[in-house]
Amino acid sequence: MCGIVGYIGKNNIKEQLLDGLKELEYRGYDSAGFSIMKDGELYSYKAVGKIKNLVEKAKDFQVEGFGLGIAHTRWATHGKPTEINAHPHFAEFSSIVHNGIIENYQSIKTQLEKKGINFLSQTDTEVIVKLFEDNLDNDAFKAFKTTINELKGAYATLLLTQKEPKTMFFAKVGSPLLIAKNDEEIFFASSDAPVVGKAKKVIYLEDGDYGYVKDNQIHLYRDNEETKLNWSDLPKNKEFAQKEGFRFFMEKEIYEQSNVIVETMIGRVSEEGINFEELDKNFLDGITNITICACGTSYHAGMVGSYLLQRNAKIKTTLEIGSEFRYKEPILTKDTLFIVISQSGETADTLEALKMAKKAGLKTLAICNVDNSSIVRLADKTILTRAGIEKGVASTKAFATQVMVLWMLSNYFGNINEYEIFMKISKACEVTEKLHEKIKRLSKRYLHGHGFFYIGRDVFYPLALEGALKLKEISYLHAEGYPAGEMKHGPIALADPELYTIALLSKNLLFDKTKSNIEELSSRDSTILTIASEEIETTDDFIKVNESNHYMIEFYEMMIITQLLAMEISIRLGNDVDMPRNLAKSVTVE
Ligand code: G6P
Repeated sequence: MCGIVGYIGKNNIKEQLLDGLKELEYRGYDSAGFSIMKDGELYSYKAVGKIKNLVEKAKDFQVEGFGLGIAHTRWATHGKPTEINAHPHFAEFSSIVHNGIIENYQSIKTQLEKKGINFLSQTDTEVIVKLFEDNLDNDAFKAFKTTINELKGAYATLLLTQKEPKTMFFAKVGSPLLIAKNDEEIFFASSDAPVVGKAKKVIYLEDGDYGYVKDNQIHLYRDNEETKLNWSDLPKNKEFAQKEGFRFFMEKEIYEQSNVIVETMIGRVSEEGINFEELDKNFLDGITNITICACGTSYHAGMVGSYLLQRNAKIKTTLEIGSEFRYKEPILTKDTLFIVISQSGETADTLEALKMAKKAGLKTLAICNVDNSSIVRLADKTILTRAGIEKGVASTKAFATQVMVLWMLSNYFGNINEYEIFMKISKACEVTEKLHEKIKRLSKRYLHGHGFFYIGRDVFYPLALEGALKLKEISYLHAEGYPAGEMKHGPIALADPELYTIALLSKNLLFDKTKSNIEELSSRDSTILTIASEEIETTDDFIKVNESNHYMIEFYEMMIITQLLAMEISIRLGNDVDMPRNLAKSVTVE
């Protein structure tokens, strides 16, 4: 995830761009940059790290009067967070910023290289601007249209060219982009945050929209026809804007999952097979088993991975909690691939475990959401989860993408391709109004009692652990996750009407066995909420997931439900959903 800003006007253009970027820093901050077109000349600055580094670097650059500017804050996907890879990217006389991933960049690059065009960066973005100049005769808009027609993937992009120094070109597919205005200025941005308080009116662009701004006139093309501009009012409150209208960041992040899961798959999942450009073909040479090590939610994702890797890749996989692993005097052998999972890449227990594995000479792989974090820098190889910045302390979209990476990895190592199923996951993660309303209503019945058991089997067991953790973290109610078959070996002693059981019942995996475990609890009068595709008689409440032919589709639907349930219970209890007591987003102490 990255953030982009555009500005056309005469009101302190440099500050407009930098202020806009600061508002978008939540979308990524490993490098930033801007280009300003002033009297036919392009002036550009870039810096690695947070926006303040860019501010410092450009502090002596003064620009007054009318100009056009584009700016970008980066969250690396292709290529390391270096100054060369930072946006804007340039060709001979044009400059571009881009948020998204161009899936076919490699083939375009090869085609341009054959024509003698050189590339400076490792990014997918540079191909757009180089392709644009290659397509350009004398009509810049025509060249821009031809260029975007050749792109596959996701992009929100702004382009400036000295061939038409008074025009800014824009296009959007997949990644967000809006146009905002007041009487004298026009803005572009990835979200509301940079324009709230500055502009009055907004258009949220739709996928496939493109066009240009010239002489203060916006030309917007939809379905290849110039279309009328339908402005709406901008919200006035900044925090409201950052949350994009959601009540909490956690809620926004739950809703984002159906999009970020696609980001995780882009360039990696295709009909031809699973591909990780981060790993080479010989990656598993000499490896006979895998150890996964992580903490908290990442540990739960790791547990899902341990089921999937054994089932799909037929590799023996063991699982370790970071803080336990460090002191158990583990026997480490070089035939083990050591995988660490971490949203932040900074968790001390996971980092120390990684150091131990490296010291023992093991091959290491990090699955992480933050490029250039300590864990990423230390591991031999990294697969980034591409969830974008997660603000809610209770992790949601990071978990969804970690599981996705592990599942893809199980296909990659096992040389199989569950393509058809992967393609259904984004839809499975969509939150419908009907579902959310149902959970909101149901949540009022689950505010008291003496505790919760979340139960499930196979991959639904780690999902039960994760569901219980979500509830604990933000509602402060006591909740435990249990393997459904283990309840009878002790915990069932607690069963009574005040004990709430959340049962994850898969139609595709161990249905009868899990159903029997639910019946054991119901006959002890436990209050049961079953999440399944068909209602069973012994349940008090029921939330329906769609009929499907694969347990991972059910997994993601149930994941959404458990996250929403925890959040709605927490809201009813009046808690601070995004910043629960006693917790921190990144735990860098032992
Ligand atoms: C903290 C957070 C949890 C997170 C855990 C591991 O405890 O509150 O949400 O799951 O750390 O963090 P990591 O960044 O390594 O995934």
